[in-house]
Amino acid sequence: MEKKLIIAIDGYSSCGKSTFARAIAKELDYIFIDSGAMYRAVTLYCIRRGFVGKGILNTEGIINELNDIHIEFVYNPDILECETYLNSENVEREIRGVEVTSHVSRISQIAEVRARMVELQRQIGVFKGIVMDGRDIGTVVFPDADLKIFMTASVDIRAKRRFDELINKGLEVNFEEVRKNIIVRDITDENRDISPLRKADDAIVLDNSRMTVEEQMIWVRQIIEKKMYGS
Ligand code: DC
Repeated sequence: MEKKLIIAIDGYSSCGKSTFARAIAKELDYIFIDSGAMYRAVTLYCIRRGFVGKGILNTEGIINELNDIHIEFVYNPDILECETYLNSENVEREIRGVEVTSHVSRISQIAEVRARMVELQRQIGVFKGIVMDGRDIGTVVFPDADLKIFMTASVDIRAKRRFDELINKGLEVNFEEVRKNIIVRDITDENRDISPLRKADDAIVLDNSRMTVEEQMIWVRQIIEKKMYGS
């Protein structure tokens, strides 16, 4: 029988991790989990409760209410994809906005938040046949993942991709702000004390600065085949 894999995709912000992970999951008929969406949903909850904002970070309040935060991925047959739900509300669009994006790094530095998210992510992973993207999937969530990919691309290319994505979604954004946010998130993600962004020793690096998604798929197909069937 064909072996079901756990595929971990980590890397910098706006590298196209989710697009790539989603494409792999579609091709293999696996479950795709966007772990960043989980941190974003927690951040949205915190914004609404006033726990985070400009100059505000009420860590105790967040920790006290962690058990009230329920995150699910619900399949939407109209778009053939899963969407993120926070306490039964579809928040897929709101969690991608500038406000959540500007606070999410601080929320994802809180040890208790990370512990809760990792627990949920591992529960999803027990089924195997899963592609999960994030920052610590290959290092912390699934250190024994069958395949680990670490993605990177230049800051300018990532900023352009993110800017285009937000514009296409009809959001009003400024290119320099998007670029600055990416740089700040890189620094925060790489330097936080708990589970900082780093390449797992056994991860394969993919710099997709000059690659289309189809080219990335051609690259990854051979690697997956080797993992599934040997060579
Ligand atoms: O992948 P993304 O940009 O949607 O992630 C949003 C934020 O969540 C990002 O700034 C870092 C954090 N994150 C994390 O700390 N660990 C993960 N596994 C995924 C995301």
